[in-house]
Amino acid sequence: MTLPLQIHSLFDSATSTVTHIVYEADGAPCAVIDPVLDYDPKSGRTSTQSADAVIAFVRAHGLQTQWLLETHAHADHLSAAPYLQHQLGGKIGIGAAICAVQGAFANVFNLKDQAAQDGSQFDHLFAPDETFAIGRLQARALHVPGHTPADIAYMVGDAVFVGDTLFMPDVGTARCDFPGGCAAMLYQSVRKLLALPPATRLFMCHDYPPAGRAAHWQTTVADQRAGNIHIRDGIGEADFVAMRTQRDATLAMPTLILPAIQVNINAGKLPAPEDNGVRYLKVPIDAF
Ligand SMILES: [Fe+2]
Repeated sequence: MTLPLQIHSLFDSATSTVTHIVYEADGAPCAVIDPVLDYDPKSGRTSTQSADAVIAFVRAHGLQTQWLLETHAHADHLSAAPYLQHQLGGKIGIGAAICAVQGAFANVFNLKDQAAQDGSQFDHLFAPDETFAIGRLQARALHVPGHTPADIAYMVGDAVFVGDTLFMPDVGTARCDFPGGCAAMLYQSVRKLLALPPATRLFMCHDYPPAGRAAHWQTTVADQRAGNIHIRDGIGEADFVAMRTQRDATLAMPTLILPAIQVNINAGKLPAPEDNGVRYLKVPIDAF
């Protein structure tokens, strides 16, 4: 039996991130995928307009928040999962390989034993291909490493939330130059997604539209196979890896990578306040 599937998506233009809310019907359990905590890097101030829009939608539709799902430890925005959990409930989940990402960045930030590297900050770690439920909807966690070692694409019915693997066909694919990233691995992960039935709907985690095009975040396996500028059918692994490596060498670090990674490997929890009541983040000098 194929159950109906409702998907409501919110686009954060400050970080070009799309948050998806997935549910069967009003009043049902839902999953919130990749929620954003607003953060102003100039002032170091957080705010919750984006997360409050998620809360308003969830409440307006009588949804019960069962899951707060991260596709990976994002480098471009801070996660609002703990804020949403406090307001709405739900379990925070991420791929089990987050432990490798925690290990890599614990060195960069010299966290030592201040931060566990076993994923225990999260409520649930998804094994590759693990199945789970969102109410009556059946879901599956597809391990799609490459952008980071821990990326998960969440498949629910005929929809896949691809995280940072594919972008829209005219934008291409995610970068692979962060610690633990691997272009060859991303190629294999994307080809796995593109082996799904052609009509499978793919929902992006980001869109960076070229000038003149509005932001979009929904496409299909068929569209990506026909037209993705980096990885359409006919482009082999060696050519993809050469393109990706060359392109990544030209990309600046994302504006929020230092605050975002520190917070997101800790399941979105901000550091504890110091004795003056203020929370601080670290900036490693000359380490990136
Ligand atoms: Fe990312």
